[in-house]
Amino acid sequence: MNVLLLGSGGREHALAWRLSQSSLLSALYAAPGNPGIAAHAECVDVDPGDQRGVIDFCLRHSIRLVVIGPEAPLVAGLADNLRTMGIAAFGPGRDAARLEGSKGFTKDLCRRFNIPTAGYARVTSLDGARAALPDFGLPVVVKADGLAAGKGVTIAYTHEEAEAALAALFASPGAEAVIEEYMDGEEASLFVLTDGKTMLPFGSAQDHKRVGDGDTGPNTGGMGAYSPAPVLSAELERQAIDRIVRPTIAALAEMGSPYSGVLYAGLMLTNTGPKLIEYNCRFGDPECQVLMMRLESDLLDIMMAAAEGRLGEVPGVDFAADTALTVVMAARGYPGTPDTGGAIAGIDAAEATGARVFHAGTRHADGALVAAGGRVLAVTATGESVGAAQAAAYRAIDAIEFPTGFCRRDIGWREVERETA
Ligand code: AMP
Ligand code: GLY
Repeated sequence: MNVLLLGSGGREHALAWRLSQSSLLSALYAAPGNPGIAAHAECVDVDPGDQRGVIDFCLRHSIRLVVIGPEAPLVAGLADNLRTMGIAAFGPGRDAARLEGSKGFTKDLCRRFNIPTAGYARVTSLDGARAALPDFGLPVVVKADGLAAGKGVTIAYTHEEAEAALAALFASPGAEAVIEEYMDGEEASLFVLTDGKTMLPFGSAQDHKRVGDGDTGPNTGGMGAYSPAPVLSAELERQAIDRIVRPTIAALAEMGSPYSGVLYAGLMLTNTGPKLIEYNCRFGDPECQVLMMRLESDLLDIMMAAAEGRLGEVPGVDFAADTALTVVMAARGYPGTPDTGGAIAGIDAAEATGARVFHAGTRHADGALVAAGGRVLAVTATGESVGAAQAAAYRAIDAIEFPTGFCRRDIGWREVERETA
């Protein structure tokens, strides 16, 4: 079958790599793709935000399935419009994508269905926020309601900081916010596939959101990740599925907007059990890279089953027992304004060590590969432990020449400390 993959990041490179290995695939197109994705797919100049353009491309190229990588087209309702045109889509429709598109929607759903999460207040004005703030202890968490590309969250240690964050947020007309109780614990990410009825666990991961070693400095989209996350034991995963994920999928079905696609639950492992931090309606980036590294089942077969409501026919998903670990190489300046255009060499040498280098933000300029975004490469390796996978990933990193780039040197440190304790 012909498949169209939307997106241009490291997540989509990993998806393209696995989709290209499917025995069911005739042709793979990527819009817009990137130089790494071009090794597995025909990259086409279609904007994933242009729904008419996407649908038109699908009709002209007999596309059976559209795999929607990023959240914005999902929240905008692209999956619904594809389905209306008779084209299968991997990803939720607009109503179900509110799980990521509106933090207030998700918090209200949790309250109504008794799903463990931080206590909260939804506020729609600065005055309302000021009135709600004294009900919270410190630190307190302030979040923009809508999509904010990872930049909408402030953890405030004083009420003044919280007020400042809220004032900044309500400076935009029509803003809405959520004020949340702070939860203490270690974070883990859990992925499940669902067609709204059947649910298949799809692995766990832990990522590193801060830009600097030791988890310091500003938040980023993610500087590295590993899978599985040993901190999410089988028992904690069972609790998270039974108390959080399964009730959410049932709630959406009951509300008449069944969820289809991958559901990514960001969890806080508190001393009273797993609690929901947030949902994403798509794969994580770079979590997807480590999941795809370990996936042994046919990705296209599973995605098609989810898109067509046939997940009940899939016996299960197989993952290698090994740990996969990815280290992001970013352009200097990230997460602020990145220094783009810097030359990159040594990818073949890095892959000769056994690692895979996923392109996140690259382009060709005069025949050379150069940085074209904040996160540039995701260098990914496997090993029998987090420590072994970490050592393999940094061996590959050391083969790459990217003088205007940088990476963290400690991805996986918590787990490596536990392994060597
Ligand atoms: P989110 O965009 O909701 O995932 O938030 C981004 C990050 O902020 C999370 O990965 C957590 O590290 C942190 N965070 C969000 N909400 C809370 C909370 N209620 N308690 C503690 N940390 C939080
Ligand atoms: N790495 C976090 C995310 O994709 O949301």
